[in-house]
Order: sequence, then C-alpha cells, then structure tokens
Amino acid sequence: MADATVYAPSSAFAERAHVRGMEGYRELYRRAAEKPEEFWGQLAETELAWFQKWSHVFEWQPPFAKWFVGGKINASYNCLDRHLATPRKNKIAILWEGEPGEKRRITYEDLHRLVCRFANVLKDRGLKTGDRAIVYMGMVPELPIALLACARLGVIHSVVFGGFSAEALKTRIQDLEAQAVITADGAWRRGKEVRLKDAVDEALAECPSVHDVIVLRRTGETVTMQSGRDHWWHELEAGVSDECPAEPLDSEQPLYVLYTSGTTGKPKGIVHTTGGYLLQAQMTMKWVFDLREEDVYWCAADIGWVTGHSYIVYGPLAAGATTVIYEGAPDFPQPDRWWRLIAENRVNILYTSPTAIRAFIRQGDQWPNAHDLSSLRLLGSVGEPINPAAWEWYYKTIGKERCPIVDTWWQTETGSIMIAPMPGAVPLKPGSGTLPLPGVVADIVDLDGKPVGNNREGFLILRRPWPSMARTLWRDPDRYRQQYWERVPGVYMTGDAARRDDDGYYWILGRVDDVMNVSGHRLSTMELESALVRHPAVAEAAVVGKPHEITGQAVACFVTLKKGEWNHNDLAEDLRKWVAKEIGSFAKPEQIRFTDALPKTRSGKIMRRLLREIVTSNAVTGDVTTLEDLSVVTRLASQHDEE
Ligand code: WT7
Repeated sequence: MADATVYAPSSAFAERAHVRGMEGYRELYRRAAEKPEEFWGQLAETELAWFQKWSHVFEWQPPFAKWFVGGKINASYNCLDRHLATPRKNKIAILWEGEPGEKRRITYEDLHRLVCRFANVLKDRGLKTGDRAIVYMGMVPELPIALLACARLGVIHSVVFGGFSAEALKTRIQDLEAQAVITADGAWRRGKEVRLKDAVDEALAECPSVHDVIVLRRTGETVTMQSGRDHWWHELEAGVSDECPAEPLDSEQPLYVLYTSGTTGKPKGIVHTTGGYLLQAQMTMKWVFDLREEDVYWCAADIGWVTGHSYIVYGPLAAGATTVIYEGAPDFPQPDRWWRLIAENRVNILYTSPTAIRAFIRQGDQWPNAHDLSSLRLLGSVGEPINPAAWEWYYKTIGKERCPIVDTWWQTETGSIMIAPMPGAVPLKPGSGTLPLPGVVADIVDLDGKPVGNNREGFLILRRPWPSMARTLWRDPDRYRQQYWERVPGVYMTGDAARRDDDGYYWILGRVDDVMNVSGHRLSTMELESALVRHPAVAEAAVVGKPHEITGQAVACFVTLKKGEWNHNDLAEDLRKWVAKEIGSFAKPEQIRFTDALPKTRSGKIMRRLLREIVTSNAVTGDVTTLEDLSVVTRLASQHDEE
C-alpha cells in the first residue's frame, strides 16, 4: 500500500475532462462540504427538469432524510422527454445486442414512444402512483422500458435478478405486496433458456396480491398463461396510444425498492426515492465516467443489481448517453464476445467487476488481443476490491495503458458512487477507490465511533446524508435505523472495513458483518444458513466466505446432520441443488463440510471467525478462549484431507 505505483492523469485526458486537476476536484469538494444545500440545490436546478421547484433543499430528522422537499419531478421525463427538444432526439439511447446476435438501436425518440406505450398498458391494468410492480426479466430493452414506464406513473418498481429462484422471487413479491409482475417467457444465457415465466408461476401460487402478469415474448418457447391473470405484452400494447404524460411526482416519491442481503435471513428492501437519487446518479456520470456527448458507454452489470439501476438506466439516460445493453454471457459463443462488442460498437467507456476481469485473465490474452479496442478511453471497476494483478491486466491488456481506471466504491444503499477518482483530476493507485466525491464525508472509526486516523484499519462510515441515499427499508424503518445509524450514533455505518493512507486515499478491505461478496454479489450468511436448515437432513449450518481466485469469495458451508444414514457425496450435491432452488444458482456453495458439531461460544453463538480461518488456512490462530469446546475446532481443522 505504501509503495503503490501512482498513475497521474495524462494531460491528453485531463485537458478534455469535466473536472481538471486536483484543484478542480478540491474546489468542488470544498464547495459541497462548506455549503451542501447550496451546492446540491444549484446542481438540481441546472441539471434536472422540475415541474415545480422545491421549497427547501434538505430536511433531516435523523436518520430520515428528504431532499428537494416539495419539488415535483419525474425520473422518466428526465431520462426521455427533456432530451427530445435537443439534438439528442435522434441519438441512440439504447444499443442492444441479444445473446443469439440480434441488434437493436433505439433512439431517444423511439424509447420515449415505447415507454409511453407501456406506461399506457400499466395504466390500463389499473396501476397507479404508489403501487408496486415486480420486474423479473432478462437483459432486453423491455426491461429498462418497463422501469421507465413505472417511473412515469409513480409505480414503484422492484427488479428481481433473473438468476433468483421462484422461492426468492416469492418472498420479495410477498414483502412488497406487489400488484403486478412484469416478466418474459424466458431469457437467453449461454445458449440455454432461463425459464422465467415458469418461476413466476411457481412463485405466484402463494402471492395473492398479484392481479396481473405481463409477459414479454422473448425466447418464443412454450409457457402456460393463466387466463384473467396473465397477458402478453404485445397484445396489451396493440391498441394503446403513443402518448402518456409523465406524472409530476413528489421528489420523495419512492422510485424503486431493491432487495439486498443483510445480516439476517430476511433480505432488506432498500427504498430509493426520485429527485435526490436521480441528481447524484447523473452527476456521477460526469464526475466519475467523465461522460461526453459522443460517448458510447457500457456498464456490463445486470439491471437486477443496483449497478444496473444507477449506471445502465437512470444515470446514463438522465445524462443523455448512449448506453449499451448485452443480454447474455461474456463467454458465449466464445470468450471474446465482449471484445467483439466493444470493437463493433466503438465503445468508449467500459464499467465492470473484478470478478469478470479475473475470469477474462484466466481465458487468456488472445481473446482481447484479437480485437480492436482502441475506442476505449475509460475503464471502471465495481463490486469488490480490485487486486493489483487484475488492475494491471485491465490497465495494460484492455486499456493499452491509455485509459484511466475508476475504481468505484458504493453500495445498494448509497444509490450512487461515493468514493472514486475523478479521472481527469485524481491520480490513481491500483486497488484504492481514491478520494470521496463531492458531498461525501467519509471517515474511518473504531467501535466507539472514534476516528482511527490514517494508516489504521477501522469501520468505514459516512458522516453526512447525501441526495441518493436510501431513505428507509421497505416497511421497516426500525431495522433501517438499527442497521445503519445506531452502531455509531448519528453516522452511516457502511459495514465495510477500510484504511486511509497519508494522501487521504481510501482502501476498502471488505465486509465486517456476516455478508459475503461472491462475484460482486452480496450474499448473507444467515440467508444461506436458513435455506440450508430448511432441508430435511440438516440440523444446523454455518456459512462463511472462502477466498476464491475468480469470484473473490466462494460459499463454504459447515453442516451438522439430523440422525440417520446419509451418503455424504449425494447429500452434498443435493444441498447444492437445494440452495439453488431456495435462493438461486449463483448462491450455490462451493464447499460443504459435514461435521458433528460447530464451534460455539458458551452462549451458543456460532464462531464464524474460526470457520473462516479454517476454510482459509485450515488452522486456527486467533483467540479461542470464548469457545465452548475446543476439540470441535481441532477436529474441523484436521478434517480437510477427507473431502
Ligand atoms: C458492497 C456493496 C455498488 C454496486 C455493487 C455492489 C463492496 C462495492 C467496491 C469497490 C471494494 C466494493 C463493499 C460494499 N464493494 N464496490 N470498488 N471496492 N469493495 O453493491 O451488493 O450493495 O454491495 O460491495 O463491500 O459494501 P452491493
């Protein structure tokens, strides 16, 4: 960390950047810190279109914030309508490629029409401001169209990642008491169909709140349609008008709820609202991605995660960008699919995860090297700390030592990027998210909330509320307060450990709670454990993250069984399938160890710290004095050879 190589912005890049040089960054940061309301108020006025101006910028009844109070705005209007009076009208908004190879280029004018039409469909189904629609689709243009149509009416959308199982879908629909589900027959992934509609049917057996299911025909495979409840998208759309005025909504109207894993078995419904969210998503497009009018921008995440919400849909479209969407797997039909896409579409900005980068490294340099990547001018990384080797490869092999890499730290809860370099201003250090963005007051503290100073590890916190912050947890304000604002009273606890160096650069060290990060996706140990103990053979389960070369962490499970004769090999396979069914196949455990007991404290709490040590090094070196039965650990540590 101390002797990390520093990459200063090239003068060619800096000259054309929105924010130039450290003075440029410092000036913005200072203004935001000194007069936050004036800073955000001015930006809201110049950068967004309002139906009615707010009466005051900010209201804070800790831990509940309101931004642009009394203002009327519409996210869909800001992403679409306002561009139509400008030369962006005929600009490509969405550049889409299906996995089988179809291409669609949708201009802002086209997108506006498609969104209006689908908003009329939703209206015809009786959906109105404040209702909830679950969106469970693959990466097709109709996914952002559905979101923008909901936003147009003030219908709160909640995207459930297409990789989630029927069971996981069901719990989200139930928690949200959604009135409608928007889905597709299926989605293409590595040449195979993901049967989305089947999963919806299974989930809906226990979801009485849902009265309408709208099904996009994507794969064309056979699905069952329940009459009265299920409708084809194209049939509902056939007779509707191309016009649908955007509702003037309260700035604090919830735009969406997105579920993410917390430290208990129950996922948290993160609530984002409209005005503040949109403003900070749009500003970070300029500050971090240095977006220019002519850019072709590609965030290769899935819209099922927050990255896709803020940086495929709302941020880029509010900023008037051309946003690329690719439906399928990166290695289909061959490991050069992405590089081909970049070359063919002259992509300028690529935003992806360290997991994806490490998978590309493993496939070999011949794949990117076979394509012309000279259009790229900026690279981004998100989801987990990027290790120096992956950083260097990304920088050299993809960026040809010409493109800055913006390592962006943020969370579902923060709504937009919090810590990241402004690429024309801030020198890079591989592995560091560098400096907080304007309006972000970060610090590192100990358990008592005392700042630990530089070069010491501690808890990453944010001291001041910011426009795109989560407002609450869906119907659970108490959990919101406890989870984020009470550990250290009055400050936002991120759940990450971090260190700050003498240049003020932040180095994220990973989660400090019982949350794992697998391929940049958040998974809760508790959620996995409760899924495992629902299996008839399982008595008790403990789950920890195990370091993994490609995915960062992998799921490792320790399981004790109920009395009976079990074939461990068959059962391990069965449990993997079980987790895929209960949560989704991306959560499948890599390792399952059967044991006769779990290490516990005298008060009965599972000591996951010890299990983490066992899966990492097969030894336990830390403090074991609170352990009830030391022999459990010795047995576990010596057991690894049998697997
Ligand atoms: C957690 C948030 C934000 C979109 C993707 C994940 C980790 C995220 C970085 C980064 C180190 C990172 C943190 C954070 N994380 N970005 N650039 N460097 N760690 O969203 O599922 O809400 O997870 O991801 O641990 O708390 P999420």
